Amino acid sequence: MGKPAKHVFVCTQSRPPEHPRGSCAANGSADVLQEFKQQFEQRQLWGRFALTGCGCLGTCGTGPSVLIYPESVMYGGVKKGDVTAIIEEHLLGGNPVERLQLPPEIWG
Ligand code: FES
Repeated sequence: MGKPAKHVFVCTQSRPPEHPRGSCAANGSADVLQEFKQQFEQRQLWGRFALTGCGCLGTCGTGPSVLIYPESVMYGGVKKGDVTAIIEEHLLGGNPVERLQLPPEIWG
């Protein structure tokens, strides 16, 4: 396997419904991850880029959360319909999708 140019992490953390932090799973992150997988397959992106479903990324209140390295770009409120823009503009085009980016303050 070659070194991927970028690595996409999609939070799929779930929590009990009464949990105060909520979760990305409750906000539809499984659909987002599935859409990434389908598009990676269709566009033959495996190998060029990496994709991983993961646990909590810390921005639960604005999920579903998607984190992309090496730029450390954190996206919030990502819907299935946003995946095309992230792939075309960010992964392939090199320009993060501004409208979905969380502010740098999230890194504290
Ligand atoms: S549950 Fe997804 S960022 Fe915390």
